[in-house]
Amino acid sequence: MNKGIRNIFSEVPETYELINHILTFGLDVVWRKRAAKAAAMAGGNLWIDMCSGTGEMASNLSNIATNGTQIYAADFSLPMLNKARLKPDAKHIKFVLSDIKKLPFPNDTFNLITISFATRNINLNRDILIQSFKEFYRVLQPGGYFINLETSQPPHLLIRRLFHLYTKLFIERTGITISGSRAGYVYLSRTIPLFYNAEELADIMFQAGFKGVYFQKLFFGVAAIHQGIKD
Ligand SMILES: C[S@@+](CC[C@H](N)C(=O)[O-])C[C@H]1O[C@@H](n2cnc3c(N)ncnc32)[C@H](O)[C@@H]1O
Repeated sequence: MNKGIRNIFSEVPETYELINHILTFGLDVVWRKRAAKAAAMAGGNLWIDMCSGTGEMASNLSNIATNGTQIYAADFSLPMLNKARLKPDAKHIKFVLSDIKKLPFPNDTFNLITISFATRNINLNRDILIQSFKEFYRVLQPGGYFINLETSQPPHLLIRRLFHLYTKLFIERTGITISGSRAGYVYLSRTIPLFYNAEELADIMFQAGFKGVYFQKLFFGVAAIHQGIKD
């Protein structure tokens, strides 16, 4: 399954950002900026963006980091990372080709971990997601922040149904038409309605060891930013 996911993302780097901006009406850009702002509170000088893809979140971090902060970006898809390397901010970022389930870093390394729109992809099942979050916890320094931006489930039933309908009718077709990747956008449209709500994801973070977990829901709850701290 992991190999399948890596292949899916290796098919889409050219159109990946454009499709996200179209499908979210540009809100993905606003949400990443908001998550990066929350992340900046972590301070310290070693930050990493997990499953960084084409590097949009890592670029946001690079824009708000103070001098002397080293930013890393990890992903297991070389084509996605190669696209990220073309960004103007890339010269400030160290790219790491790695599966996030087994990171090539010692315990207690980073002051901040971010992940955006990729937690659904590492959620092969609940136990695997907890294990992946435990791996994040391992490489985070005590006092370090974990910031997670991901699609979520609107609490209001009618809005949730409309969101799922939009996902089914619009996301799949638009994604396939623009990218030419059927697998990528069938996968996206199928995983969004099945993902956890904000409370369930907070519970998963607790189970992985994070403390002080809280979240803010975005745009009627279609997405959420979660934050946790390593004690
Ligand atoms: C939907 S994209 C998100 C990219 C970016 N974070 C963003 O905000 O748009 C998911 C990314 O996660 C990566 N990914 C999925 N599973 C992974 C894993 N187990 N280890 C490393 N990267 C992974 C994929 O290669 C892809 O680049």
